[in-house]
Amino acid sequence: MVTNARLQVIGILVLGVFLLPTMTTAQQLALTLMPVPASVQSGTGSLRVDSSFSVALSGHTEPRLDRAVARFLRQLARQTALPLSLKPVKAAKATLVVQTDHASKEIQEVGEDESYVLEVGANGAKLTAPTVLGTLRGLQTFLQLVDVSPDGFAAPSVTIQDKPRFPWRGLMIDSARHFIPLEVIRRNLDGMEAIKMNVFHWHLSENQGFRVESKKFPKLHEMGSDDLYYTQDEMRELIAYARDRGIRVVPEFDMPGHSTAWFVGHPELASGKGPYEIERKWGIFDAAMDPTSEKVYKFLDEFIGGMVRIFTDHFFHIGGDEVNGKEWDANPKIQTFMKTHGIKNNQALQAYFSERVQRLVVKHGKAVVGWDEVLVPGVPKDIVIQSWRGQASLAQAAKQSYRGILSNGYYLDLGWPAARHYAVDPMDGAAASLSPEEKQRILGGEACMWAEYVNPENLDSRIWPRTAAIADRLWSLQEVRDPASMYARLDFVSARLEWLGLAHRTYYHRMLQRIAGPAPPAEFAALRTLADLVEPVKDYTRSQTAPAEATSLTPMNRVVDAIPLESDAGRHFGELVNQFLASACRDAATEARLRAQFTVWRENDAKLQPLAQRSFLVKEVAATSQDLSALGTAGLAALDAIAKAQPAPDAWKAQQLAIIEQLKKPKAQLLLMPAPAVQKLIEAAASGGACAAPKP
Ligand code: ACM
Repeated sequence: MVTNARLQVIGILVLGVFLLPTMTTAQQLALTLMPVPASVQSGTGSLRVDSSFSVALSGHTEPRLDRAVARFLRQLARQTALPLSLKPVKAAKATLVVQTDHASKEIQEVGEDESYVLEVGANGAKLTAPTVLGTLRGLQTFLQLVDVSPDGFAAPSVTIQDKPRFPWRGLMIDSARHFIPLEVIRRNLDGMEAIKMNVFHWHLSENQGFRVESKKFPKLHEMGSDDLYYTQDEMRELIAYARDRGIRVVPEFDMPGHSTAWFVGHPELASGKGPYEIERKWGIFDAAMDPTSEKVYKFLDEFIGGMVRIFTDHFFHIGGDEVNGKEWDANPKIQTFMKTHGIKNNQALQAYFSERVQRLVVKHGKAVVGWDEVLVPGVPKDIVIQSWRGQASLAQAAKQSYRGILSNGYYLDLGWPAARHYAVDPMDGAAASLSPEEKQRILGGEACMWAEYVNPENLDSRIWPRTAAIADRLWSLQEVRDPASMYARLDFVSARLEWLGLAHRTYYHRMLQRIAGPAPPAEFAALRTLADLVEPVKDYTRSQTAPAEATSLTPMNRVVDAIPLESDAGRHFGELVNQFLASACRDAATEARLRAQFTVWRENDAKLQPLAQRSFLVKEVAATSQDLSALGTAGLAALDAIAKAQPAPDAWKAQQLAIIEQLKKPKAQLLLMPAPAVQKLIEAAASGGACAAPKP
């Protein structure tokens, strides 16, 4: 039964996108639920959601559940603008009855039961879960079910049986390179709850900042943070806030590298002579802890001992990535130590350090998480490897009995489209051939938000909505993989996340307004048209293409900082071109839409230029604006050539493709996203294929 329903839903997920006008309930569901539940069976009719909507708790109760219901009702009220009462009611009277069998663990653990069953009928709804965590997940599913209908807000009749595929579904936020205030972290935790993620990995120390108050070693935050750090009380509150949402908090203190900020107040920990200053540049630096110094281990023992009193999770992340070893090479005392102890190279020296630190973490009752680099022979088996360098190391770890999580492929800062992240699965590649027992050791994955080019204004738009695609990958069944369905659901979830308080769309608009200054609506609209069609340069090319070297003090107020990392308009345009080509260029309605877009682009630059004279931030994108107009002209020429119904001459093709090559080159660190799709039209016009053939 479950299998059939599941297959039905997956089939619908694929088809649903194309069936909008005559959708059934199941098809509608396929457009809204993210992640996709393990099993969905649609019924008939729907549950009306009006201002009489109420919730009753039964079975196990605890204050966390009361708060969850209050939060649920507040979010439902935001989504619908219905004036809902937060007062609890008796089960017999409630619209939604929530039955929780028992408590979850006091300190949330990896692999706890998060399952739930949600039954919605025309007369009421019931959510049943073995544990509080399952209840939290089911409440979020209910919120995604409620939508506008012809006669009010409603949730479709449905029975959902659900549980996650992976127990570790994380988001890492680097609040060390740029400090991220707690209110911004909190709203991102709200977003994580909405899409059922359950680990917040908090990257708290870096070359550019030490972001944690240390009572024992106050010089760490006093000298290493520019006064931008979290107090111990604030961190405790944040952990409680996360726990309320069924989210574990794993702190990361990166060592022995990525650690300059520690040494500003404590140069005695470093391998170099010092003095050290907070690093302002980006990259990999020489500063590293001294693995040969007993003082370092004594310090770390006390430091970790203090931190585990705040960070209650079983796991403690010690980083371990990207040590270049230069300070070790240059320090005679370290070289002598290595010779005396038979330590052959820097990798072995780091292994020695990792092993010592791991023992300290274990002594304080915790287990270590570390980046790939910490996986060296002999490390204790209860370590979790976080793979950033590739899937192979995840499989390698699993074979050696280590547990692991995948982050390679989930780096949000690389600016990939959601579909590219979505295509990455922890069980693909080398992991696919592991034994069932080894596969069990792959706990899931984490999206990683590194913060070189991220600040409180644009953090949300770097994380959302793309992270929801990764959440879908980690919760939903492995066969749920269709990118068209994912994008349809992502659009829905993205809008919902704004109701939750995330600001990925609103800040984009506000930042563009600052860039434009006071501007007539037509000029601002021209800026928006351009900004909607560009994306920042990809992968690690941002620093290579920078007009001047960026540092942690560089303002992030440019168009490249404001725009989303994935252009929806660019993607939709590409789909339109594909649709036109799939019709052998005969679909007149699509052609008309393409022509209309190209005409808007061609005219856009003239509208934008006055603004470029008034704002230096618009002036920076003036050349890109000219490129967009040139792209509009090229697109119109391609459509004209296609309309002639004979292959366009080679010379024309060469000339047009040369233009496109120019337009594809990044300017102001921006990529003009529709350029490759226009290239397809040019190639179609010049080929001997169907698009250039006489029409029947
Ligand atoms: C990393 O990206 N260096 C973990």
